[in-house]
Amino acid sequence: MLTASVTVDPAFTVGPVRPRTFGSFVEHLGRCVYTGIHEPGHPTADADGFRGDVLELTRELGVTTVRYPGGNFVSGYRWEDGIGPVADRPRRLELAWHSTEPNLVGVDEFVRWCRAAGVEPMMAVNLGTRGVQEALDLLEYCNGTGDTALANLRRANGSEEPHDIRMWCLGNEMDGPWQIGHKTAAEYGRLAAETARAMRMIDPDLVLVACGSSGSGMPTFGEWERVVLTESYDHVDMVSAHAYYYEEDGDLASFLASAVDMDHFIESVVATSDAVRAAGKHRKRIAISFDEWNVWYQKRAESHVPEGDDWPVAPVLLEDRYNVADAVVVGGLLISLLRHSDRVHAASLAQLVNVIAPIMTEPGGRSWRQTIFHPFALTARHAAGDVLRLAVDTPTHETAKFGEVAALDAVATHDPATGDVVVFAVNRSVADELELAVDVRGLGDLRIVEAVTLSNPDHTWQATADDADSVVPVPNAGATADGARVKAVLPAVSWTMLRLATS
Ligand code: AHR
Repeated sequence: MLTASVTVDPAFTVGPVRPRTFGSFVEHLGRCVYTGIHEPGHPTADADGFRGDVLELTRELGVTTVRYPGGNFVSGYRWEDGIGPVADRPRRLELAWHSTEPNLVGVDEFVRWCRAAGVEPMMAVNLGTRGVQEALDLLEYCNGTGDTALANLRRANGSEEPHDIRMWCLGNEMDGPWQIGHKTAAEYGRLAAETARAMRMIDPDLVLVACGSSGSGMPTFGEWERVVLTESYDHVDMVSAHAYYYEEDGDLASFLASAVDMDHFIESVVATSDAVRAAGKHRKRIAISFDEWNVWYQKRAESHVPEGDDWPVAPVLLEDRYNVADAVVVGGLLISLLRHSDRVHAASLAQLVNVIAPIMTEPGGRSWRQTIFHPFALTARHAAGDVLRLAVDTPTHETAKFGEVAALDAVATHDPATGDVVVFAVNRSVADELELAVDVRGLGDLRIVEAVTLSNPDHTWQATADDADSVVPVPNAGATADGARVKAVLPAVSWTMLRLATS
């Protein structure tokens, strides 16, 4: 058995646990909207046609923000198509996913769905085929409070109160050659700056996110951020990061260490943005909105978009089925996001329903939790207070993708109001159990409130509509607390949460 230890000291804080870290994403893609969150004929549907079962699972997941309406979709989207009487809305060719968009759901319905789900909407504007004026129009339509044409149009469409959307993404993945209206960093940086500057004339307090890179493997990674932020630094609050390189392609050890890539991604963007800060003699710091991240099996048939004359409405697309190892990786990626809470101020698990998602639905039928649902829900529910910098002593092993990596990955939170500590830990070993000792010096004697572990002898087990519950986080029976020392055995390929409270 491997052994590792972490030392938890409440003096060493990284930053606060930021609620917006636990965001998600709803795109008009595949069955995320139609038969995902929205299905008027479903037995649980509300007056707006939103599925009650999905709303309930969204609340249980603990999602805080939901980004909308894309994704690649937004770069060809006319937001005006999605307002007003549903019967009058146009059906459009949707180029990003080679589908037909019926526009049954638009911004007003989405905001109503957010209110029902108890989440904050995060809106993206189209900077692919459109520009400053359309972004301003959408902002005025959503948030306008006065007697102006677009605010009145919203009222006429049934939303008397302003939507008051605070977070806005200035386009989506504009560095990607696949993006409709793809731009160079200089072109996009100028457009982002001018769009942001004009949006702030309506409301200076918006939280504005410039597009960073679609992945740390992009050929322009680093230089993209440098140029975009040089153009837009004074006008934006955050730069985005997207990461989907995580999939098990026969190399489980590397896959389990995916958080190494996320750590590197975040630290590189921080370094670049701080270099721009220094060069431009700026005072503020730019934060990161990691607004698309997940495991994604991009080579599988589920991710192949329709072709030719086939332009379906809500096709089955990107419907990855996740296994236990995928869930362990998702838990590890959350550890990475929390560990950087000084600079990662928002994040969105992509996506929420059906499309690379923690929640799955059958049209007209059941909904269920995928394996990745569990580490997300537990982390969102229990991470509280400050994120702590841990001293970690762990064995290491070699991986093909990342070289030598730690077997144990962990982060802890400490709530100064209650004294409660929560440790989140992953055992990345493919074969060995790991005995973890947590030294909680500085916190007095702690007792275990809850110790749960997600693992399975067969890490390829997947949840289905028929059986979503036979592998879920279960009590870690051997976990013990003895004075200032807590111990637990973490199985190979596992994710664990230890909730500790003062005795
Ligand atoms: O989440 C799926 C797609 O991945 C999004 O539309 C796009 O932004 C990213 O490339």
